[in-house]
Amino acid sequence: MDKIVSLCRRRGFVFPSSEIYGGLGSTYDYGHYGVLMKNHIRSRWLRAMVQERDDIVAIDSAVSDPLIDCRTCKLRFRADRLEDAQCGRKPSKRPGEFSECDLTEPRQFNLMFQTQVGAMEDASSTAYLRPETAQGIFINFKNVSQLARRKPPFGIAQIGKSFRNEITPGNFLFRVREFEQMEMEFFVPPDEAEKWYRYWIEQRFNWFVNLGVRESMLRVREHDEDERSHYSTATSDIEYLYPIGWQELEGIANRGDFDLTQHTRASGTKLEFVGQDGERFTPHVIEPAVSIERIFVAMLCDAYDEEVVGERERTVLRLHPLIAPVKAAVLPLIPRDEGITSRARELFEELRKRHTVEYDDSGQIGRRYRRQDEIGTPWAFTADEQTLEDETVTVRDRDSLAQERLPIADVASWLDAALERPWRSPKA
Ligand code: GAP
Repeated sequence: MDKIVSLCRRRGFVFPSSEIYGGLGSTYDYGHYGVLMKNHIRSRWLRAMVQERDDIVAIDSAVSDPLIDCRTCKLRFRADRLEDAQCGRKPSKRPGEFSECDLTEPRQFNLMFQTQVGAMEDASSTAYLRPETAQGIFINFKNVSQLARRKPPFGIAQIGKSFRNEITPGNFLFRVREFEQMEMEFFVPPDEAEKWYRYWIEQRFNWFVNLGVRESMLRVREHDEDERSHYSTATSDIEYLYPIGWQELEGIANRGDFDLTQHTRASGTKLEFVGQDGERFTPHVIEPAVSIERIFVAMLCDAYDEEVVGERERTVLRLHPLIAPVKAAVLPLIPRDEGITSRARELFEELRKRHTVEYDDSGQIGRRYRRQDEIGTPWAFTADEQTLEDETVTVRDRDSLAQERLPIADVASWLDAALERPWRSPKA
């Protein structure tokens, strides 16, 4: 993990937040390559979840969660001040002491960051930064299912920041207090829940494998009954063998009808599916939930490699080309040669219209290659003296180090095709 952290910092993927003020514990900012890589992860997830499917729509809900702590009287209390509070139904009693009280889990409450909404600072303006994006999906269930005219099975996907006042954050980005979740709630007829639960475990596992994460570093682990959250009837984690051991990368939970039932009870709005023919039921929910941070760390760990090439050591990130922050580098072999640089520059201008590419003309060619290896750039196109004679460039492969010549006119389509090819890690 130390090597990953140091590479991330050296090459501007990620650095500690507020560093000039001494840093804010376990909070990180993303630099250029980190942002690019996160964007690729996000867009691949959205592509698999929304773009390539007919049965999932997207949503983007607010980050503050109004938390209702008593499901009966709908009053909110601070979990650590219950002894000073009055029950909404029976003011002579404390919350939780009256027979009709139905308090939500205090653990979740303590984990949440409290804030005030609006100018007045009183109890009614208290809000909490959401600890998961899921609730924003459940409370919009009625809107979305009606507007999108969907019948279960269908899903709602959301990407956004979540906040947890983690007691023991650490291990770089693995456990942080502010992270970006990608969650999808898949609403299904109750008798199909088990089938969809298995389906989503397999889909999500394959998503990682198809993005180059080695299968030998992934496993599915089903939770024991005493490990499961109160809302879940079954949960499996897709675990990755991080440097700190097997740890949860993504969770897939069968949440049953818990959330829609709870929100129906608390809000008074019926959250159920009603069909044209009068058919009605409360859907069950299958939820794949992951954070970009956990994927980011897993993919970097999986890609990191060191090797000796021609007596020189190189550090290389063997990232799937679709995840690599930069897709290709364009390098003029002799930066002083105007003919070569202008051909390289033209190629660069053409490629940058379609992909994130870099132009680099500083330093020896070997050093320029190594700089690209270190950030995981899969291909480098080099213009040299021969380019001026026959309008070809070399393409160098990050993993095999093989070089071949290509007509400049074919480079853009060659790169498009190369990005579409299946890729598997050459690491054992
Ligand atoms: N809606 C269900 C839910 O939030 P969770 O297992 O608490 O379930 C889901 O979180 C995923 O969010 C985890 O599998 C992990 O990928 C990510 N995650 C949770 N807490 C995190 C943290 N403190 N830092 C980074 N990622 C986190």
